[in-house]
Amino acid sequence: MNSPQAYSPKRILVTGGAGFIGSNFVRYLFEKTSLNPSITVLDKLTYAGNLENLADYDGKYTFVKGDICDAELVEKTISESQIDSIVHFAAESHVDRSILGSKVFTETNILGTHVLLEAARNNGVERFVHVSTDEVYGSLGETGYFTETNPIDPTSPYAASKAASDLIVQSYVKTHGFPGLITRCSNNYGPYQFPEKLIPLMITNAFRDKELPVYGDGRNVRDWLHTDDHGAAILTVLQTGKVGEVYNIGGNNEMRNIEIVKLILKTLGKPESLIKFVKDRPAHDKRYAIDASKIKRELGWEPAITFEEGIAATIEWYQQNESWWQRVMTGEYQSYYNEQYANR
Ligand code: NAD
Ligand code: TYD
Repeated sequence: MNSPQAYSPKRILVTGGAGFIGSNFVRYLFEKTSLNPSITVLDKLTYAGNLENLADYDGKYTFVKGDICDAELVEKTISESQIDSIVHFAAESHVDRSILGSKVFTETNILGTHVLLEAARNNGVERFVHVSTDEVYGSLGETGYFTETNPIDPTSPYAASKAASDLIVQSYVKTHGFPGLITRCSNNYGPYQFPEKLIPLMITNAFRDKELPVYGDGRNVRDWLHTDDHGAAILTVLQTGKVGEVYNIGGNNEMRNIEIVKLILKTLGKPESLIKFVKDRPAHDKRYAIDASKIKRELGWEPAITFEEGIAATIEWYQQNESWWQRVMTGEYQSYYNEQYANR
């Protein structure tokens, strides 16, 4: 939305821009807007960071390999590039990994966010969008929706670390008049998603006739949103959101996991016998459902991509980009930085 008073970012820092949503956001800026800001991506390139996601734009943006917990590097990156706005995606993002070991979640998601806030404040950054998640609200029963005023009640160590970072951002707004805004989005799907998350895992397993592991009874509900819609919502918040506010972002598209898995199998012409019900995730949140009426009412954003078209396009993308996910599976994607960037 480009209202007359819309903020126009000139020099954006995208943290976690080599990950799934961050890279799709950078692509969105290049392809779907006429803003033409200079873009700096700061990313540690953990297992989830894949610079091949942005290979189409090599040379058109600045890449800094580094950790958001590294205060000196973050300070230098923001001041040297004269960053005016930050969109903060960098995080450890997978619930199952946070159950296996959560220290790095606390480090990156909480301490890393704190480092960024300090550096942003020191350097007069004008807008800071903190990309958070609906998982901070915990789990819903069969009915009801998360609104921005719901209490924070996270279940997993991942969600708890995101909730903590949200609170630190809010404290900076209140204490220091910091220009922070928070978005809380539902589950994303789309191209370039690391195949550990439900949809790409099921698609890539089905291709290879491997079992599809469904946790528990498969009746857990998530509200799915295409990553391009998420990117549009984040840009809307960056440009027109009110400092200090939280904006829920959702797809109005609640589905049970098992429905999605069966839809993927049907689309690929694969048998349901590939489904394997496995031991449930500990403390598995039953249902997430977002009330996204505030961002629609106040900023005019709503999802543009229906789940039917989005999931069909996503399945097709994984079909047509087998080399992308094969290189992820073999680990070859991790050599891209050394091949393309290390000697620049
Ligand atoms: P992702 O795991 O695909 O990508 C995370 C990126 O952050 C990677 O490129 C990784 O290398 C980078 N990173 C991790 N630790 C870092 C560190 N210490 N310093 C610098 N870079 C680091 O995650 P995603 O799915 O793209 O999620 C992006 C953001 O959106 C996260 O903050 C997540 O909490 C939030 N979110 C995700 C979803 C979803 O469905 N995936 C939904 C709502 C909100
Ligand atoms: P996931 O993609 O990990 O996202 P989140 O836990 O952040 O919502 O999981 C989405 C849902 O799919 C969640 O209810 C757990 C379930 N799930 C499975 O049933 N099997 C799997 O192998 C995975 C990764 C997830």
